[in-house]
Amino acid sequence: MVDGKALVDSVRKEIIEPGIQKLMDTQYFTELRQGKLSIKRMQGWAIQHYLHNKAILKSFALGMVKNAHEPVMFDYFIEQLTEEQSHPDLAKRFGLAIGLKEEDFTEATQMFECQIHSARTVYNTLMGYAPQNRASALTSESMVCRYSEEFLNAGRKHYGLSDRDLTFFTVHMVADQEHTARSAELIAKMVKTPREERLVRESAQYMVRIKLGKFEGLYREYA
Ligand SMILES: [Fe+2]
Repeated sequence: MVDGKALVDSVRKEIIEPGIQKLMDTQYFTELRQGKLSIKRMQGWAIQHYLHNKAILKSFALGMVKNAHEPVMFDYFIEQLTEEQSHPDLAKRFGLAIGLKEEDFTEATQMFECQIHSARTVYNTLMGYAPQNRASALTSESMVCRYSEEFLNAGRKHYGLSDRDLTFFTVHMVADQEHTARSAELIAKMVKTPREERLVRESAQYMVRIKLGKFEGLYREYA
């Protein structure tokens, strides 16, 4: 019997927390904290996050269809869809405040690392099993939660942005304790074998790599 709570605690401590530390040490966040990150690289985040957020809304819709017969997962995807519905527009609002135009969002395409991120979400939804999905979402949310604090602080301090411009980040800074508790519960209920435990850990590790890749990619592509 796998102890779900212990597994989630270990994933947080051994994979997510070191991943967040690595993300904070990247060039992107080092410069952002100092107010030296170029506007173009910040715009890159707005465009790419907008596109990714649109893609995951579609993924949640597919998850609802796929799980229409299964109440727990159907509700999970409804909840995700509902929670995330306004988030592409919040990423766009930030982008418009730093000089982007509506067309910049409609004309843009996904850079490689962001498409990998979206593709991973679709994979988890359609082909992964629920704890894999939760481990991925938990990792992603924890990392977004932490980096939102950086955008919020730097946005106010160095870039003269208003709280309205920065709404995306205040929304994503809300502690995800409730999500963590639910992930632990679901993982405890479903993870039975060492192989399944490995899938959960791998899922968290992949998401850390995807996030780190995403910010490296943003730094490179929007130079
Ligand atoms: Fe979001």
